[in-house]
Amino acid sequence: MIYNKVVYLYLIPRIGQNTMNTDIKPFYAVIFGGDGDLSCRKIIPALFYRWLDGQLNMDFKILCISRSISEDKVLKSKLSDFIKKTIEVEHENKIASFLERVQLVNLTKMTHHEFDKLSVELDNHVDWQRVYYLSVPSSAFSDICIALKEKGLIQADSKVVLEKPLGHDLTSSDAINNAVLTAFTEDQIFRIDHYLGKETVQNLMVLRFANHLFERAWNSENIDCVQITVAEKLGVENRAEYYDKTGALLDMVQNHLLQLLCLIAMEPPSKLTPDAVRNEKLKVLQSLRMFKKGSVTDHLVRGQYTRGKMKEEKVNSYLEDIEKYNSETETFVAIKAFIDNWRWKNTPFYLRTGKRMTKRYSEIVINFKAIQHNIFPDSQVALGNKLIIRLQPEERIELVQLSKIPGPGGYRFKPISLKLDFVDSFKKRMPYAYERLIIDILRGNQTLFMRYDELEAAWKWIESIKKHWLKESKLVLYESGTWGPGEEIMDKTQSW
Ligand code: BG6
Repeated sequence: MIYNKVVYLYLIPRIGQNTMNTDIKPFYAVIFGGDGDLSCRKIIPALFYRWLDGQLNMDFKILCISRSISEDKVLKSKLSDFIKKTIEVEHENKIASFLERVQLVNLTKMTHHEFDKLSVELDNHVDWQRVYYLSVPSSAFSDICIALKEKGLIQADSKVVLEKPLGHDLTSSDAINNAVLTAFTEDQIFRIDHYLGKETVQNLMVLRFANHLFERAWNSENIDCVQITVAEKLGVENRAEYYDKTGALLDMVQNHLLQLLCLIAMEPPSKLTPDAVRNEKLKVLQSLRMFKKGSVTDHLVRGQYTRGKMKEEKVNSYLEDIEKYNSETETFVAIKAFIDNWRWKNTPFYLRTGKRMTKRYSEIVINFKAIQHNIFPDSQVALGNKLIIRLQPEERIELVQLSKIPGPGGYRFKPISLKLDFVDSFKKRMPYAYERLIIDILRGNQTLFMRYDELEAAWKWIESIKKHWLKESKLVLYESGTWGPGEEIMDKTQSW
């Protein structure tokens, strides 16, 4: 297909050429929460895959900090089980050899005194760069950073990686960031959002800025609305305590959905340097229309899942899942947002995310306006084109256009999709988001990581919602295994 070729020839091969390609120095990856869920499911498997692909062919060691595990072999057996879940069987024999590079550091109480154990290990290779990955609740960030500083464990090329959510509001986020900044400089801080490491998300920049075709039409004159949807099948699983304090607004919108919105709405950066890109994203966040008293009701829906069926199996309600029966925490949120700038004046951006939906899928739909003058009076050409960017489960770009249904007689139309399926086109395993991001951290490339001012701007907008929504927007219940709150309620933020 022509479209496939256009994308293939012009865009894809050039992605790598503009990114920083500095060699990775030997390193220590020090993972706080090294035996935790994120480390086992994402961070360690990502390091394993990069090593397996030969990209980590330098000296390195992974120090997993744990408070509860005290035996190295217990940690390794746990990590090995998790890696096995993510890889093809033929690679299983490599796991033991990879795990030789992993070492447990047990810090039971995380006191400053205990940090000496870490210091002893790091002293073995003083010239290796040190990446401190904080995969623990953000309330622990300040203490860890202060201890690292006081023990003299931070060098000029050290880095710190901060997992979201950073605090629970602007004030707590500022406090955490300021504490981290007393130990690390901004260019050593990597605030990670794994959505930015997804291949299709990275391809958004290429799609927009390496394609003449789309950029010309990328504005309110031509685009009717943008829908950004992240639907999950999962409920809260074993994260009840965390999730009930967080909710969908902070867990998904404040970071992942806003980052996607930035990439769709930003102006072209003048070059592909971290600050040039982040400056443009910041301007989008600062241009988001703030919610005011009285403006939430018509622009926002918040919901919570009840009992239902997923693939014929009965599932619990959210309240049963968290075993707390008076919670008003939202597991679904839909927002009609506006960006008050020249390019996007009055174009709605619909942000929607929910747990326990019918199926797992994430996509961005750019809905183009219908043509201005219809020369086919008996046909429905009122339909505009759609550009669909599917992030998961498949990674695909689709351009929906009207085509004539073959046959004699009058003009009859049908929407037809031109599809670019990444798996078909590249015949390669799509790397996990964390793989790309971890390599960027090791190389010191901050393009895909949030800067402090971006985070602040995102919090300010979220706070404008939080300030009014409990009074102005009633929690709506929806059945598990459905698409969320009903059509009549979703009307104000458009149905799925
Ligand atoms: C995480 C959220 O950041 O993203 C989870 O904390 C959510 O609640 C997850 O399930 C979704 O990520 P992905 O990559 O599976 O879409």
